[in-house]
Amino acid sequence: MEKINVSLGDRSYRIWISGGSLGGLGKRMAELGLSGRAAVVTNRRVAGLYYGVVEKSLRSSGFNPVPVLIGDGERFKSLETMWRLYDRLLGLGIERSTPIVALGGGVVGDVAGFAASTCLRGLPLIQVPTTLLAQVDSSVGGKTGVDHRMGKNLIGAFYQPKLVLVDVDVLRSLTGREFRNGMAEVVKYGAIRDLKFFEYLEGRMENILKLNTADLVKTVGIACATKAGMVSRDERESTGLRALLNFGHTVGHGIEAAMKYRGVKHGEAVAIGMVKAAEISERRGFASELVAGRLSKLLERAGLPTDMPRFDRASLIKALRVDKKIAGGINRMILLERIGKAVFKEVKNINEFI
Ligand SMILES: NC(=O)c1ccc[n+]([C@@H]2O[C@H](COP(=O)([O-])OP(=O)(O)OC[C@H]3O[C@@H](n4cnc5c(N)ncnc54)[C@H](O)[C@@H]3O)[C@@H](O)[C@H]2O)c1
Ligand SMILES: [Zn+2]
Repeated sequence: MEKINVSLGDRSYRIWISGGSLGGLGKRMAELGLSGRAAVVTNRRVAGLYYGVVEKSLRSSGFNPVPVLIGDGERFKSLETMWRLYDRLLGLGIERSTPIVALGGGVVGDVAGFAASTCLRGLPLIQVPTTLLAQVDSSVGGKTGVDHRMGKNLIGAFYQPKLVLVDVDVLRSLTGREFRNGMAEVVKYGAIRDLKFFEYLEGRMENILKLNTADLVKTVGIACATKAGMVSRDERESTGLRALLNFGHTVGHGIEAAMKYRGVKHGEAVAIGMVKAAEISERRGFASELVAGRLSKLLERAGLPTDMPRFDRASLIKALRVDKKIAGGINRMILLERIGKAVFKEVKNINEFI
């Protein structure tokens, strides 16, 4: 069992990570002083696999759980889904003290988190992430929200959970591709912040992919602790530290947008973006060692792509311009000084990126 404290003053909370912890959810929630009705926001797929365990655990700790289903997939991360969710939650007669449990991947976490932040001006939020990406990334850090037709994640709020409970055993039901999708972010943490972790991944990648529980607990634990540490020092992205988490994401987002979010997963695009950023770091003399080859080797062992997909270059440049607009007219690029140390750079010319 790994326990991580996210220190954010009176909004501090704990992340619990172990194998088989789902059955202890009710107890952990009761320890926080929560009780009564609990709305479990999830989708049909995840509910079919894990709602039974969650329901039993909540009931045995005196809660009265109610499942609240949303659609499965990014297209349901929308304001339409929010309206339905508000209708359902308010229709249940929830109160300010009613906990919202987000049981699912990043989509469920972001939607349920945003509902918790806005419904009745804030309800206690419990994150129970069930994809690797959600366990190591989206459930940590307090970003919640939905997409808008103008772009992803444009409507939302920072809202911290009261508790994050990670059961690595639930990763066994993920497809290999979904699992690898989360591995890109895991490798990212090693690359930007933690050489030792990167070396551990180099030593144990095959065991992690075989879902060895001890390796998973360690991997998810270090990944969460890395993000939690960066977030608690820069909660609202004001000092530049949290921005380092965007390593590989400028080009990654560009690839996703250029491919219209079809046929490529976020982690796959980020894997390619990280290798590109590492190559630029070498080419422009920021890196004091060879970083791109080492990084792409590890990503390839994780089963991730590292070469640019074939598509219209003009649409990639257009997509990168959108990223620039959001960043206040500046192209932000996170480069590697070495494995384990990322630096924040502003780059004027987009063409340098690709
Ligand atoms: N808030 C943040 O800081 C943050 C950070 C990164 C990503 N995100 C968001 O996260 C979302 C992507 O999350 P995701 O990759 O988890 O996608 P997802 O939530 O769509 O889940 C992927 C698929 O796996 C299924 N699933 C979930 N858990 C499962 C399990 N244990 N077994 C079998 N199937 C399971 C889901 O139903 C879905 O079909 C994006 O919307 C992204 O913007 C948010
Ligand atoms: Zn990402």
